[in-house]
Amino acid sequence: MTQAPTLRASGIVKVYPGVKALDEADLVLHGGEVHALMGENGAGKSTLVGIIAGAQRPDAGEIHLDGLPVSPSSPGHARGLGIRAVHQELTLLPHLSVAENLAIGGYPSRAGVIGWRAVRRRAREALAELGLSIDPRRPVGELPIAIRQLVAIAREMQGEARVLILDEPTSSLDRTETERLFEVVRAARDRGVAIVFITHFLDQVYEIADRVTVLRGGRVVGAGRTADLPRLRLISLMLGRDVAERESRLAGRNGESEPAEEASAPVVCARGLRRGRALRGASLEVRRGEVVGLAGLLGSGRTELARAMFGADRPDAGQLAVDGRRRRLTPRRSSRLGIGLCPEDRKSQGLCLGLSVAEGLTLAMRAKRGWWRPLRRGERQEIVGRLTRDLAIRAVDSRAAVGTLSGGNQQKVLLGAWIATNPRVLLLDEPTRGVDIGAKDEILRRVRSMCDHGLGVVFISAELEEIVRACDRVVVMRDRETVGELRSGEIDEHRIMRMIGAERRA
Ligand SMILES: Nc1ncnc2c1ncn2[C@@H]1O[C@H](COP(=O)(O)OP(=O)(O)OP(=O)(O)O)[C@@H](O)[C@H]1O
Ligand SMILES: [Mg+2]
Repeated sequence: MTQAPTLRASGIVKVYPGVKALDEADLVLHGGEVHALMGENGAGKSTLVGIIAGAQRPDAGEIHLDGLPVSPSSPGHARGLGIRAVHQELTLLPHLSVAENLAIGGYPSRAGVIGWRAVRRRAREALAELGLSIDPRRPVGELPIAIRQLVAIAREMQGEARVLILDEPTSSLDRTETERLFEVVRAARDRGVAIVFITHFLDQVYEIADRVTVLRGGRVVGAGRTADLPRLRLISLMLGRDVAERESRLAGRNGESEPAEEASAPVVCARGLRRGRALRGASLEVRRGEVVGLAGLLGSGRTELARAMFGADRPDAGQLAVDGRRRRLTPRRSSRLGIGLCPEDRKSQGLCLGLSVAEGLTLAMRAKRGWWRPLRRGERQEIVGRLTRDLAIRAVDSRAAVGTLSGGNQQKVLLGAWIATNPRVLLLDEPTRGVDIGAKDEILRRVRSMCDHGLGVVFISAELEEIVRACDRVVVMRDRETVGELRSGEIDEHRIMRMIGAERRA
């Protein structure tokens, strides 16, 4: 006999103009279990949990919590029912401090006066549970995205919950952070909370989830115990077709003879870059036609190095050269020199969510050409059509607002915008974050084929497996400095891990 479910959502329908996001979807959650919700970009995962958490209203369907019908009408209402959610697009307020963010929805107050001491103490406790020791007075906007993600999670972990929804919580976390999060998730599970966990990382599903529900095109196409669901079966359920083992290599040149371009001069060359405490000495060069992986733990300085190489942050010391000439870069100058940066935090740095897909895809390119040189309609259609196809961007049509796309599809638009500028060097900071397994390969393959035409790429990813598959060379960072390099033929996960983790010299 299994226990009665904690939450049962049945026959949930949600229609947006032009798309049926959910088509009679069911989800059954049990207390004391982690339930993975799987599916391709746009399958309806965020919509389904959004409805359960009161962020959206369904067009049809019912929700029962502990056997009683409920209809969460707002996030606050859902929260009152014990349903907590950390959404895919973070809802922290960047200008407020960590403590204020954590206290939203429940400031400890006496006679209307907020007790700041108590707020900060509580914040510290909530953060400590996730192993974080950050100053709760710091504004959230100053924190790296992964830490912001953990703060958002800490916020929802406070107090007692019946249901805890985590929509892609690990997409910007590295292994250590993910492990830490999993400990907290397991502790919540052992207290009897029903947990929904959305991710595109299959390994994580098999590591933590007791059950899985698979959505495709808004319908549930499979549900069951993780232990009974072989990995290939799960992938074919998600993709709706049989898959052979994934191609293991993406025609990266690892293991092959040295590429002919090896001898060519670097397009961009960074030497001994330093910047306050963010970078303590980083060197990296990119040549035509190569993919250089940048590996390292969260906070090791990967993002900071990419930003400095793009001129988004100015280094205090060190040299930057483009085509052999020393330069002081600004983002504007970099774009003109053919250098592009696709940032990790798409919401605040890359994309205007109000733009249409077509506008989003052509924005960076038009800025580069100069606004006075309008894009002909046919040309624009051709570019938008090609990128939409190549990157498998799923949108109703190219006039749909970027903000209405699923998270993974937004990421693809951001990448497409940079590809459209026809760059010579592209700095990609976690370009496959939140992108599903099929599209991930699509993106990597597309990047590779551009490299065959001379593009140089710096590829930042927390997923070592992806780095090994896609890169020709790997530079490793530790403690905000570059500490080593692996060349073609030497690249494997084990070696990278060893370099990442090696003890710092005294
Ligand atoms: N506000 C909205 N307006 C119009 N369409 C929307 C809106 N929100 C979501 N959609 C559409 O509903 C569908 C499901 O989106 P949803 O965000 O639930 O996907 P997802 O499974 O979470 O994908 P991802 O893995 O990319 O996050 C998509 O086709 C999306 O474009
Ligand atoms: Mg989503």
